[in-house]
Amino acid sequence: MSSRDNPFVRFAAFWWGIGVILLFFVILLVTRAIVGGGDAEDPLEETARKNRLKTLAGIEAAQQAYFEAKVVEEGKTVQLDPEGVFEHVGSQLLAAQPTKVDDPAQVVPGSAAAEALATAGGEADTEGVDALTPEAGTEPDPAMMEKGKQQYMVCMACHGMNGEGGPVGPPLANSDWVAGPVSNLIRIQMRGLEGPITVSGKEYTFPAPMAPMGAAQSDEDVASVLTYIRNSFGNSAPPVLPEQVKMLRSEIGKPPLTQDDLIPVAPGS
Ligand code: HEC
Repeated sequence: MSSRDNPFVRFAAFWWGIGVILLFFVILLVTRAIVGGGDAEDPLEETARKNRLKTLAGIEAAQQAYFEAKVVEEGKTVQLDPEGVFEHVGSQLLAAQPTKVDDPAQVVPGSAAAEALATAGGEADTEGVDALTPEAGTEPDPAMMEKGKQQYMVCMACHGMNGEGGPVGPPLANSDWVAGPVSNLIRIQMRGLEGPITVSGKEYTFPAPMAPMGAAQSDEDVASVLTYIRNSFGNSAPPVLPEQVKMLRSEIGKPPLTQDDLIPVAPGS
C-alpha cells in the first residue's frame, strides 16, 4: 500500500498543509507590523481619501434624510417616489460628460499640482461675469427652466423638494445668495462650499460641505439649474447664461469656497 492511499498519512498531510498556510499568514502579519506595510501612506493621499469618505457620508446622510422625508403638496402629505429618483440620478450620472483636462494626473488637495492650479490665472473675473447678467425682469427661457428642473433632481436630496433646505443643506427658497451675484452661484458649482453659511440672516452649519457639483457638467446644464433655482420656490432673478459658466471654468480644481470667498449679499454674510 503506497502512502498516498494510506488514510492516516493523507490526514496528517492535510493538517501539515493547513499549518504551512497559517504559518505563512502569521509571518506576513508580523512583517507588516514591523515594516509598517500598508500604513506608511502618503499624507496627501490620506487627506484625499478622508475627503472622499466625508463626501460619501454626506451624500448618504442626504439620501437617508430625503427618503424619510414626507412632503406636503397642495395640503396632502405624499410619500416621495424613491425609485423615480434612483432612475433619474442614475441616468444623470451616465449622461454626465467628464470635463476635458489637459493633464490627466489626479490632483490631490494640498499637493504642489493643486497649489499651481489654484494660483494659475490668478483671480476669477467675477466682475466680468456679473456684468453679463441680463437685466432685472428678464424672463428665463422655458426650455432652460425645463432642463434645470431635471438637473435639480440631484440638488433636491440636500436642498429639499421645494428648496426648503433640511438637515444636510441650506434653503434655496428666498436665499439671498440665490438671488445675488451669478458669479457666486457658478463658483459654488465649480468648487463646492464649506463651513458655516448665513442664508437670509440665519446661520447654518452642516455635517458635510457641498461638493463641486457642476465641475463635471456642461456649461448649459450648470446655467440651466442655476436659472431654475433663481426662478423657482418663490425666487425671481435674471437667468444665468452658459457663457458666464464658461468664463469661470478655470475655478475647477481650486479648494472649496467658504462664505468669505464670495461676494457678500447681505450685511454679515
Ligand atoms: C450633498 C448635499 C448637497 C447637494 C447634492 C447640493 N448641495 Fe448645495 N449646498 C449644500 C451645503 C451643505 C451647502 C452649505 C455649505 C456650507 O456649509 O457653507 C450648500 C450651499 C448651496 C448654495 C448657497 C447657500 C444657499 O442656500 O443659497 C447654493 C446656491 C447651492 N448649494 C446650490 C446647489 C445646487 C444648484 C445643487 C445641485 C446642482 C446643489 N446645491 C446640490 C449641500 C448640497
